[in-house]
Amino acid sequence: MKKFTTVNDIKNLQEIIKKALRIKENPLSESSKGKGKTIGLVFLNSSLRTRLSSQIAAQNLGLNVLTLNAAQEAWNLEFADGAVMNGDTVEHIKDAIEVLNQYCDIIAVRCFAGMKSKEEDVNESILSQFEQHAKVPVISLESATRHPLQSLADCITITENCHEERKPKVVLTWAPHIKPIAHAVGNSFAEWMQEMDVDFVITNPEGYDLDKNFTKDVKVIHNQDEALKDADFIYVKNWSSFDDYAAMPEVKENWMLTNEKLENTNQAKVMHCLPVRRNVELSDEVMDGENSIIYQQAKNRIFSAQAVFSEILDELN
Ligand code: CP
Repeated sequence: MKKFTTVNDIKNLQEIIKKALRIKENPLSESSKGKGKTIGLVFLNSSLRTRLSSQIAAQNLGLNVLTLNAAQEAWNLEFADGAVMNGDTVEHIKDAIEVLNQYCDIIAVRCFAGMKSKEEDVNESILSQFEQHAKVPVISLESATRHPLQSLADCITITENCHEERKPKVVLTWAPHIKPIAHAVGNSFAEWMQEMDVDFVITNPEGYDLDKNFTKDVKVIHNQDEALKDADFIYVKNWSSFDDYAAMPEVKENWMLTNEKLENTNQAKVMHCLPVRRNVELSDEVMDGENSIIYQQAKNRIFSAQAVFSEILDELN
């Protein structure tokens, strides 16, 4: 694997899921593979799971790990091409990436959507600069439009919890939130589910349809109860409007996932990428209940990252 920013960078999804599950059985099975190599984890935004799971994964492979919490610890970055830097910004992203090239064998970056300009976000204005200027493999730790390491962890978790011969029904449901949230997790989950052998539907209120470039022909149902019927897996996530970019059109019905809403499902397992706003997106009883596989999902972030780093190291070694 030469880079990892989308599902398209994976040659065979089932194979990498199997690899991640083997790693989960024996996390130190390739403990020398990264010896003498350095991964830079660059965070332009906050993180708990991605930062820590990536560090654990890299350490399990024997990689040296540099973590830069750029928003808090680095110089104030300029992203605009041709900017006259006579204001608050101190270092251009191009120069920062050129320096990271000198220190790292792999660069992983988290760069969320700015949620101000639809054009900048859909064109991945920051990730594209890393892809353009990095001379080493680039890994996305979540970008403006996708969260591929999360989606791989989601695929691993669904695989672990599939115990029947038939295709599972997987429902991605919109959930309420108090502020506009980006589309990366929803987009990415939709993209990856289309590569899995599952019956996949999305449910969200009118005005909240995700970008068709990601959902393609997936059925979108605007009635949550109808969509949840007979579900085996429910993935809970908020996102703001894509059409009226970053707006939050009013929603009259209650979309928070509760135990009552699980009654018409096939004892559905509940998933969420975290962090979650309890009793806003889903209720305490769901979060802490026996249907939740949310912490298992978070644990699988380690093995998703480790499988990907290992594949990248194959290319470097
Ligand atoms: N799910 C996820 O990416 O968590 P963090 O934002 O804490 O990394």
